[in-house]
Amino acid sequence: MSNLKIGNIILKNRLFLAPMVDVTDCAFRLLCREQGAAMAYTEMIYVNAILHENKPTLKLMTIGGAKDRPLGLQVTGNNLGEFSKFSKLKLLENYNLIDINCGCPSVKIVGSEAGSYLLNDPDKIASFVKFLKDQGFVVTAKIRLGFKNNKVLEVSRKIEKAGADLLTIHARTAEQRNSEPADWKWISKVKEKIGIPVVGNGGIIDGDSTEKMLEIADGAMIAGAAIGNPFVFREILRFLKTGKEKEITKQERISAFSEYLRVASKYEIIDLSRIKFLGSGFLKGFDGASNARAEMMKLKSFDELEIFTNRLRKT
Ligand SMILES: Cc1cc2nc3c(=O)[nH]c(=O)nc-3n(C[C@H](O)[C@H](O)[C@H](O)COP(=O)(O)O)c2cc1C
Repeated sequence: MSNLKIGNIILKNRLFLAPMVDVTDCAFRLLCREQGAAMAYTEMIYVNAILHENKPTLKLMTIGGAKDRPLGLQVTGNNLGEFSKFSKLKLLENYNLIDINCGCPSVKIVGSEAGSYLLNDPDKIASFVKFLKDQGFVVTAKIRLGFKNNKVLEVSRKIEKAGADLLTIHARTAEQRNSEPADWKWISKVKEKIGIPVVGNGGIIDGDSTEKMLEIADGAMIAGAAIGNPFVFREILRFLKTGKEKEITKQERISAFSEYLRVASKYEIIDLSRIKFLGSGFLKGFDGASNARAEMMKLKSFDELEIFTNRLRKT
């Protein structure tokens, strides 16, 4: 697989770990990178929240050392004034690029006229991209096909014209959320119309679907299939090389969960509800997994979780 460039950043392959709220913290990103993900992002954070530089927000922005690279900071917002103040923050030097989220369909974000709501106003998105580019950042955007109506060609053209270094397309409208199958033909159509790299997203679950996406796009971004399963990247890379994938063993899954706990503790980003959500993904696909998940849900502290995973490793 040949390299892909985003501005001045050269990626080792074309596999992207998607930004995911409550999932892609530094501990989880490191696991996915170890298994082959070439690019990763923080979860989406509202630019205004970053301006306050409060502790919970800074925790979400924690970087997992030199191995947690290249790293995109994913943000959303609804006006240029916010982006202007945001762009002056010193802490932005710590990230390799800024990705603008124009796809989040959550009621709270849409209610703030950010996330996928921005797709109603392509010129506004373009103004954010251009402004950040003018400040010298590497800038990418992640869009859906539209808010209610499909506007993906217009939005993509404007984002390219504004100077973006790469565009990711989640091939569903915001109204469709994640329910209907992603419509990849729109990724092909955008690819025909614009010259910047296009990363396809939506419904990539394995080597076969990745191979198909890489026939139409420059990169493949994986979200749901990676939750609790960083090995998806390793197996995709194996498939792209050999046409085969291997089963992931119980021991691998539990060791990865233990490693997640260790690194989350090291970077002081422990959050029990997040750990349980991710843990439900790790504890899958082996005999006794559903009992293990039920047991995990009852645990009340980080120490209990560590004891639980250590015991599980030995069974
Ligand atoms: C738990 C969860 C959290 C997500 N959070 C974000 C986010 O912070 N930013 C973003 O751009 N997309 C977010 N998404 C959307 C994914 O990045 C992706 O576009 C979508 O899930 C489709 O990809 P998939 O079919 O591989 O799951 C989230 C998705 C999930 C499942």
